[in-house]
Amino acid sequence: MTSSALDLPPSVRIGPGSGGLTVVRVASSRGSAEVYLHGAQITSWVPAGADPVLWLSAASEFAAGSAIRGGVPICFPWFGPLAGVPSAPKHGFARLVDWTLDDVRADGDDVVLVLVLRDSALTRASAWPHRFEARYTITVGTHLTLSLDVANTGTATFTFEEALHTYLSVGDIGATEVRGLDGAPFADQLRDPQAQPGEAGPVRFTAETDRVYLATAAAATVVDGASARSVTIDKLGSRSTVVWNPWQAKAAAMADFGADEWTQMVCVETCNVKTDAVDLAPGSSHTMSVTLSIDQPLPHQPQNRAT
Ligand code: BG6
Repeated sequence: MTSSALDLPPSVRIGPGSGGLTVVRVASSRGSAEVYLHGAQITSWVPAGADPVLWLSAASEFAAGSAIRGGVPICFPWFGPLAGVPSAPKHGFARLVDWTLDDVRADGDDVVLVLVLRDSALTRASAWPHRFEARYTITVGTHLTLSLDVANTGTATFTFEEALHTYLSVGDIGATEVRGLDGAPFADQLRDPQAQPGEAGPVRFTAETDRVYLATAAAATVVDGASARSVTIDKLGSRSTVVWNPWQAKAAAMADFGADEWTQMVCVETCNVKTDAVDLAPGSSHTMSVTLSIDQPLPHQPQNRAT
């Protein structure tokens, strides 16, 4: 079905967005969102009455064949470079191609979008020759749920990696911590690709950070001290969580990162990567999903002071 054939609820509009790419705009009583067909990438989610939750670089490219820097890129069917194939695009092809909008519907006060990507001559030529169908369901409301279902439509088992590479806005990375990953083994991508034992306590940021936490199904909470807000990331069907901030030098080397933007973002990515990659038999499917919810501060109250 083409998007023009869909019967849209009144809270949904489809039109040109940045760079002329097609964007689906949701504006409901419970929250607003923007989703590009390019990469099936959600670039904005604003729960009603709250500040934007997702970070998007002001310097992002919006162009066919490029990844959008921010929101939630989908990394699939591999994460990082594809082993042994240096010409293959980093983080897979899913974030670089247009997905098809398959369904848009209201679910009570929430809005549900379903986007689909199937193998094509292009994807099969990308060093990943497998037959698949990926269905991505985005539910926009006071919570945001993202659910990626991958089906093996071919005749042989394949292995894939996946990440919902979630960029979150924070007031100040130096006053941010990620809770919930205590004790989970992690591979430090900057030092040693072998997993090392987990650490106690929250993750705090004082330098470039690029960690792949493995064998953890735990929820994580990003505590944004500067904004006095926290974002909880509850996940299902996911065994890995990536935590990333490029810090100053790496961000400065990226054309699609504005100066100092790195101070106001953190990625906490719901994944199945490395030793948590998924083996999928013909006719089988696998679903990974994440729900983001915010713990909003109460309006500022004057403090009682002892005199
Ligand atoms: C993270 C990786 O998930 O994505 C990092 O762990 C990587 O190693 C980052 O630098 C951004 O990748 P890209 O391809 O979007 O610049």
